[in-house]
Amino acid sequence: MDNITQTQSDSVADSAQHLFSNKTYLDLLVVGVTIAVTALIRYASTSNGLKLPPGPTPAFIVGNMNDIPVFEEWHTLSQWAKRFGEIVYLRVFGTKMLVIGSYRVANELLDKRGAIYSDRPITPPMMEMAGFANSLTVMGNNSDYRLRRRLFEQHFRYSVIDRHQPTQIRETHKLLRKYLESPESWLLDTKYTIGAIILDIVYGYRVTSDRDEWVEIGERAGTNFQRSVKPGAWAVDVLPILRYVPTWLPFTGWKTFALDSTERRKIQVDGAFEMVKQAMKEGTAHPSMVSRYLEENENGGDIPEVAIMDMASDAYGGGVETTLSSIYGFLLQMTKHRSIQQKAQAELDRICPDRLPTFDDRKKLPYIEAIAIEVGRWHPGVPQGIAHRLEKDDSFEGQFLPEGSLVIPNIWGMCHDEETYENANVFNPDRFMNAAGDAIDLSVHDPRQMVFGVSH
Ligand code: HEM
Repeated sequence: MDNITQTQSDSVADSAQHLFSNKTYLDLLVVGVTIAVTALIRYASTSNGLKLPPGPTPAFIVGNMNDIPVFEEWHTLSQWAKRFGEIVYLRVFGTKMLVIGSYRVANELLDKRGAIYSDRPITPPMMEMAGFANSLTVMGNNSDYRLRRRLFEQHFRYSVIDRHQPTQIRETHKLLRKYLESPESWLLDTKYTIGAIILDIVYGYRVTSDRDEWVEIGERAGTNFQRSVKPGAWAVDVLPILRYVPTWLPFTGWKTFALDSTERRKIQVDGAFEMVKQAMKEGTAHPSMVSRYLEENENGGDIPEVAIMDMASDAYGGGVETTLSSIYGFLLQMTKHRSIQQKAQAELDRICPDRLPTFDDRKKLPYIEAIAIEVGRWHPGVPQGIAHRLEKDDSFEGQFLPEGSLVIPNIWGMCHDEETYENANVFNPDRFMNAAGDAIDLSVHDPRQMVFGVSH
């Protein structure tokens, strides 16, 4: 497992990129694909006299593939929203995309018209090959998805979330002690703490070392997920037939990556699940999401084990990186803005002068709440949301929205919209405080309605 070095795995991306940009391959494809794509464009460009939303001019065959940057693409998507409007249409080969640039439209389509906007894109071949076909994020809107969603909500919905507070408090206190003792390792200590919290809530697993192997395994799976989901990064997503090329051919480092990822994913999903089962057998299991559903089954329930396993690994995968990036964003802002930090400290000193705060203090700490909201706005954990798929032809304000389009909410763009948030690039928690500065005021628009996804 560990014989794949960083250099080797980096070369996977390079070789995939090379393959993708290899002109010879493309030249060979041009003739065959032209006919299909031309027909597709013609079909997709209008319906009932309505026009597709505007967007950057697509290139021959590849469409807008080269217009979409690989890193921090949300900046480009935001510029397009300013230039073309609230819905921008893109095409990468035959894949249609609708980029939503405003909360107004995202709310109308993804939430109010959720019945036809809740599907997910057909699993890209690379995700499947890398072992992520069963992730909620790529699962269609079918009964398997709804079962997993229900399992997730039963354990994490707002009304029951308080039950996870003791774990959060315990691990956070440990982290604060580490910050004091070895401030230089804050980055890793924070990461392992978030991993420890989610591992406990999901699997009842208590980390015992500072650098726990299950956090490592989960992190590696998360990195592989992010690499395999990147639109436009993998040739096999555009030409699925490539999945059958043997690994001894040149430029197939991406296939080795996929095989390695699948193996690691199996260890993460099956291994952690088996660990809970074993602990339950031995009577040492801590209550967790997995033990709860296994107990339900012992008492006559019939939840398929595979659904429990998938959901547990999704909760872990969905929870760690997002929470971590918010905490890193918070720490960054506190180091950059000393006056904000001091104001927050003064509020804390007022409410709990001789102890650490608890969740019960939250309502009495509005400025700190405003900082948390502003961190989410300024640095949304999932800047482009997770793509949805439009299930049938639709229209919006005179524009034609074709069936099968990937619908991408540019959450970062919405959170940095100057019309909603004045000086949007400035970190300013006061935008969420009332004039007296003693209570939260969300009249400017609560970014949490976007940061955690627009559909509900
Ligand atoms: C700052 C923290 C977080 C942010 C910014 C965030 C953001 C998001 C966003 C934007 C989506 C896509 C929603 C959609 O497509 O409609 C999502 C989905 C999801 N999140 Fe989070 N999330 C956070 C924390 C968590 C945590 C702590 C967990 C688990 C305990 C979690 C589990 C999930 C799951 C399982 C999904 C997929 C839901 C689905 O496909 O139906 N997230 N999250």
